[in-house]
Formats: sequence, structure tokens, C-alpha cells
Amino acid sequence: MKKVLALVMVLILTVLCFAGCSGKKEDATDQSVNTKKLVILDEPLTTEPYGFAAKKGNDALIQAVNKELTAMLADGTIKSIFEKYNAPYTAPDAAQAAGQTAATDDSLQKVLDAGKLVIATSPDFPPFENLEDDGSIVGIEIDILNLICEKLGVILEIQQMDFDSILPGLTAGKYDLGVSGFTATEERKQNSLFTDPYCLAAISIVVPEGSAVKTKADLAGKAISCQSGTTAENYCMANGLDYKSFAANNDAQMALTTGKVEAWAIDDLTAAEMVAEYNKGA
Ligand code: ARG
Repeated sequence: MKKVLALVMVLILTVLCFAGCSGKKEDATDQSVNTKKLVILDEPLTTEPYGFAAKKGNDALIQAVNKELTAMLADGTIKSIFEKYNAPYTAPDAAQAAGQTAATDDSLQKVLDAGKLVIATSPDFPPFENLEDDGSIVGIEIDILNLICEKLGVILEIQQMDFDSILPGLTAGKYDLGVSGFTATEERKQNSLFTDPYCLAAISIVVPEGSAVKTKADLAGKAISCQSGTTAENYCMANGLDYKSFAANNDAQMALTTGKVEAWAIDDLTAAEMVAEYNKGA
């Protein structure tokens, strides 16, 4: 009986799907989806170092992570992880960690005692962290953190959330690290600790092919999408641009592809990956 029911459901769904698809094709006036390819402008908005964030006071944990990052930068591990994801790697400026006195707080010991390092991430940011169809989260930063956990002898636990919830939760002590393509800005450093940077990135501008927006200067007066709480949003705010923020990066992209905005401000490597993926279908 169950089988028959399932079969009937599949039949109904198939018919509905066909009806839906053909309906769309016939509707030549449907402007809801812009099928133009996307392009990334040559001129980036800014250059930014990425690091991992911890709660203020958790210096021992940050120092332990820095020690591993320094080794992974020196022996080429970080660079090879970028290569694994076909992402161009730009090394950060040399860290100034020398001379730091060893921290005596219990943040590292707590992680070791728990046997796990808990990180928070917004996995809508390939190639750094991305939610796969099977529910797993993969990317450059996940690989880096897995190696650090191996060195510390603990397991990695990932909590998934919107980008703009990560730093407040970190301050509230809900997890050990914020790992989400974080730009280590002076403003954020007032409320959180950051590791040494492990790479340099930039904010790019994405537009539909043939757009009148060709340079940074052309952005004036144009609606721009970005992700809430990001440095891209900050840039728009600080420069008096007209922006719309979205909790999820994919929605910021969709605002552009459906013509609700004329440009999308997004970090360069993520732009490269998401644009390439989108253009396959455009
Ligand atoms: N680098 C930018 C920032 O720190 C964007 C990061 C967005 N990350 C994400 N996982 N969605 O604000």
C-alpha cells in the first residue's frame, strides 16, 4: 500500500514539475531571472588579511593556533591547501608575533581537557567554507583547522550560523573560535582577538555582463548587495553607497542575478568560485 502511495506521489510531482518547467519557458516576459553571465571587475575595493577570531582574554588559545599557523605558513602547507581548492594564494605580510610573552589563561587547557575545539562558521563562502549537498562543511579553513586540531590532539566540532551572529556568540563564550573568512580589522580587534593572518584577500565587485558599472567610481548611486556584518557591507556604509544586506551570501548573489541590485560586493576568491559556478548555468 505504501509503495502504491509513493508511486502516485512521484507521478503527481513529475507532472507538476513538467507543468512548471514548460510554463516558465513559454513566459517570455518573465524578467525574474536574469540569465546574463556575471563578471568580476578588475579593480578590487580593498585588500584584507584573513585570520581566526577568539574571545578577548583567550590569549593562550590564540598563541597555540598562531604557533601552528606559523609552521604551516613556513613549510608551504597553507599554500598547498589553497592549491587543492584551485585558489590563487597571496601570502600575508610577515607576522609580528616575536617577543610575545606566553599567556597564562586557561583557554587552551579548556580545549585540551574537552578534547575538542569548537568553531563557528557561516558555510556560504567557498572555497573557505561551504555546505555540501550531503550536509558536510568543507573548504580551505576547515582543512587548516583539522590540521591544527590534529596537532593539538583534539577533534574539530563545527557550529553553523549566519555570519553576523559569529562574533557576538564568540564574545558570549559559546564556542572557541570564529572561522569564517574573517578579515582581521582594527575595529573587530577592539572586541575580539585575532590570530596572525594566513592570507591576503580583497573585496571584489561583481556585475552582470555588459553593465554600465565598470569601475569603483561607477558604484555611486547604484544599489549594491552584500552580506550582513561583513567588511563589504562596512565598505559600502563608510563610502556612502546605496547597499542592501543579506544574512546569506547566496541571497546577496541572487539579488544581483534577479536584477534587484546592480552590483554585488564580495571577497575575491569567493566571487571567483560563485561566479564560475553561476556562469555554468547562465
Ligand atoms: N572577509 C569578509 C569579512 O570578514 C567576509 C567574510 C564572509 N564570510 C562568510 N563565511 N560568509 O567581513
